[in-house]
Amino acid sequence: MYDLIIIGGGPAGYNASERAAHAGMKTLVIEEKALGGVCLNEGCIPTKTLLYSAKIYDYAKHSADYGVNFQGASIDHAKVVERKEKVIKMLVGGVGAKLKKAGVDVVYGKAMIKSKSKDGFTVEADGKEYNSTKLLICTGSDPALPPIDGLKDSLANGFAMTNRETLALKEIPQTLVVVGGGVIGLEMASYFNSVGSKIYVLEMLDHIAGPTEREISDMLKKEYEKKGINFILGAKVTSIKDGKVSYELDGKALSIEADKALVSIGRRARTQGIGLENIGVITERGAIVTDDYCRTSVPGVWAAGDVNGKVMLAHTGYKEGEVAVANMLGGKDRVNYSSIPSVIYTNPEVASVGETTESAKAKGLDVEIKTVTLKLSGRYIAENEGGNGILKILIDKKHRNVVGLHMIGNYASEIIYGAAIMVETQMRVTDIQKLVFPHPTVSEVIREAMF
Ligand code: NAI
Repeated sequence: MYDLIIIGGGPAGYNASERAAHAGMKTLVIEEKALGGVCLNEGCIPTKTLLYSAKIYDYAKHSADYGVNFQGASIDHAKVVERKEKVIKMLVGGVGAKLKKAGVDVVYGKAMIKSKSKDGFTVEADGKEYNSTKLLICTGSDPALPPIDGLKDSLANGFAMTNRETLALKEIPQTLVVVGGGVIGLEMASYFNSVGSKIYVLEMLDHIAGPTEREISDMLKKEYEKKGINFILGAKVTSIKDGKVSYELDGKALSIEADKALVSIGRRARTQGIGLENIGVITERGAIVTDDYCRTSVPGVWAAGDVNGKVMLAHTGYKEGEVAVANMLGGKDRVNYSSIPSVIYTNPEVASVGETTESAKAKGLDVEIKTVTLKLSGRYIAENEGGNGILKILIDKKHRNVVGLHMIGNYASEIIYGAAIMVETQMRVTDIQKLVFPHPTVSEVIREAMF
């Protein structure tokens, strides 16, 4: 009998299992494929590995701007993919070792929740039954694949791809159509643009990068237009077949011929076929309903990560898993969804936390918005020839605390956690003015914006 069975060994599940084991709970993780989930195996980490190679290649191409001459820089895509596999292997192995050290049991197989009784829950995997007093469901998400004409066949014959197949491509497509200008679409477009593909991004909205601060998503679009990406906004994709992506724009039927088409139009929680109905866990629009304490509708059953359909980011999953375990142990911990940072690892990077100009307006918040150029940072100028990054800070006018911070420019991905602390702890402008920022760094622009 386990104290806790965790279904799914992605970031939410593996991190929660370690916390639970450290707290003395006898814990079992049931994983269908590989520890690390989408994040380690076909998401965050492989993408970042590819994008780092692209960044080095971009630097090589533009090295003359910095007084360095590289002749004949070229990309070896097969080698990039090989290195990505090595990175994944190392990290997945690392997770396995950590769980072993923490004393977590791991079983590989597809889990099916069978029943609940007064003593707890029964879960079947790999032909065996396991029992526990508590359950944590961390089954993640799958790519959303709407019934677009021809999509099913195109996925089967390899013309259409999700993030999974795109990351495994052995050759660089000459022409790539990206359907969906969100985070996955933009990061993959960024890589294949750097390595020489002709890219078309078809986005149904009138802007890219979803809920990102609009001024910043417009800047990112301009930056990538300069690099040659074609953005087609307001496009309604009608079919993906026969090597062609067809769409409607302003009432006109148009199409683009391509070697490959990436479909990245969001993700759906993975809740089918795991036996939720056997114990009565309530779902809404396909995702498990949870509260801020990560409780589901069934006492003793928690859920964390993409499966709740809330903020589909690995670090949200980490946090939710930790909150769930803390509450199982009698705590009263909750997730503050308003201070979760997010990053788009394009070049330049985009990073955000908290309210945007648009969300503050929609909520009727009275905010002061300060916009400063990253060129206030000496390091930014030294390292970004022709760079044009900005930082935007939203300050609550009444309490003078930071409620949102948004950046476009490199190192934004590493700076944003500091901003998340400011939002989470409701730091006031006067508190931030007292901080010492190291010089010369790009983070110094936050200090500049406070005076
Ligand atoms: P997304 O929600 O970020 O973007 C999907 C985009 O597709 C939206 O802009 C939407 O308007 C558009 N769209 C939807 N239907 C469409 C259609 N029929 N035709 C054209 N456009 C359409 O979803 P994405 O990029 O697939 O990413 C999935 C999840 O993975 C997200 O939750 C994202 O946050 C996460 N992720 C996070 C990363 C990061 O933190 N750096 C990296 C990659 C993914």
